[in-house]
Amino acid sequence: MNPFISAVPGSFYGPLFPRKSLHFVHSCFSLHWLSQVPAGLNNEGKICISNSSPQCVIDAYSMQFQKDFELFLRSRAQEIVDGGRMVLSFMGRPSSDPTAAQGPFYQWELLAHALMAMVLEVRT
Ligand SMILES: C[S@@+](CC[C@H](N)C(=O)[O-])C[C@H]1O[C@@H](n2cnc3c(N)ncnc32)[C@H](O)[C@@H]1O
Repeated sequence: MNPFISAVPGSFYGPLFPRKSLHFVHSCFSLHWLSQVPAGLNNEGKICISNSSPQCVIDAYSMQFQKDFELFLRSRAQEIVDGGRMVLSFMGRPSSDPTAAQGPFYQWELLAHALMAMVLEVRT
C-alpha cells in the first residue's frame, strides 16, 4: 500500500472523501471552529462564550457543537476503511462554567474586542 496525501475543497462538516478511502484521519486544531454562528444567538460584541455569557448562549454554542461534531463523525465514518484510525486534537473547556478560569480562551476575548473595534470604525 502506497500512502498518499491529497487536498480537497469543502467543509469537513459533511462528505469530503470517497467511501472507504481513508486509512488514517488526523484533524488538528480545527474542530473547535463551528460550521456557523448558532441560530438565534444574541451574543452582541462576542465571538464565543465569554465570562459574561448567559446560559442561553452557552446552550446555543453547545448544541451547535454537538450538531457539527456528529456530522463530522458520521461523514468520516462513511469514508474511513474498516480498522482505520482517527486522531482528533482540538480545544475544549475545562468547565462549562463561563466564569471559571478561561485559560487559552482569553485570546478569543481579545480577538472579539479587536474585531468589534474594526466594525465600529467601519460603521462611523
Ligand atoms: C487553526 S487552523 C489549523 C490548521 C492546521 N491543521 C494546523 O494545525 O496548522 C484551522 C483550519 O481549519 C479550517 N477550517 C475551519 N472550519 C472548517 C470547515 N468547516 N471545513 C474545512 N476546514 C475548516 C480553517 O480554514 C483553518 O485552515
